[in-house]
Amino acid sequence: MSGSQGGQAGQGRPRRLAVLISGGGSNLQALIDAQESGTLTGAEIVLVVSNRADAYGLQRALQHKLPAIHLPWTKRSQQAEAEEKLAALFALFKVDLIVLSGWMRIFTPAFIERYPWRIINQHPALLPLDGVGDEVITSDGSVIPALRGLHVVGRALEAGLKVTGCTVHYVIPEVDAGRVVCRAEVPICEGDTEEGLYERVKVVERRLIVEAVRRVVNGGVPGAPPLDPARD
Ligand code: GRF
Repeated sequence: MSGSQGGQAGQGRPRRLAVLISGGGSNLQALIDAQESGTLTGAEIVLVVSNRADAYGLQRALQHKLPAIHLPWTKRSQQAEAEEKLAALFALFKVDLIVLSGWMRIFTPAFIERYPWRIINQHPALLPLDGVGDEVITSDGSVIPALRGLHVVGRALEAGLKVTGCTVHYVIPEVDAGRVVCRAEVPICEGDTEEGLYERVKVVERRLIVEAVRRVVNGGVPGAPPLDPARD
């Protein structure tokens, strides 16, 4: 998987995606829809993996004839074995890019370091463009806290922010801290509930994940190397 960094972005075979999920998979569905309508330019989904057997996203994958695999990993004690199995699956399916799409497990640093610039993650809040620091500058120049970790939609409301959003970023060992591929703002309205706001964020996320994959596979992320095909 370590492919040289010298290839031309966007050339050669379509880049092969593994999408990792833990739940409903509405973002996976957006990727599938883009693939089927021919707008996931330069990429193809070749594998869907869930750590939960009951994740509805597995059904979505099967309905579209995509390989869908349940990888048991709900307890901490399953991590080492799960990471080994995942690495074997990525090699078997010749995966170039791993998309964490509602994936609720945290990888070990050693696992992440096996796939530099080859893992991206969705996060339902705004993160700093270079991944570093605790503040985000929004489009109107205001500074808001970078919300990392869990329950970030509710935390944006509690903090009284006027804007939140969503981000797709490269994955590095620090959680929710890699360089941003793309992000989008979502205004917070008077009287918003966490549920209602999250629904609006998720609508934007479904567009953003398609855009992010296109950017990564076509070499469109400033500061990031082109995504060469993984070594066979
Ligand atoms: C998204 O909001 C994503 O940002 C978060 O998990 C959610 C996944 O939703 N990490 P779905 O399973 O794609 O519907």
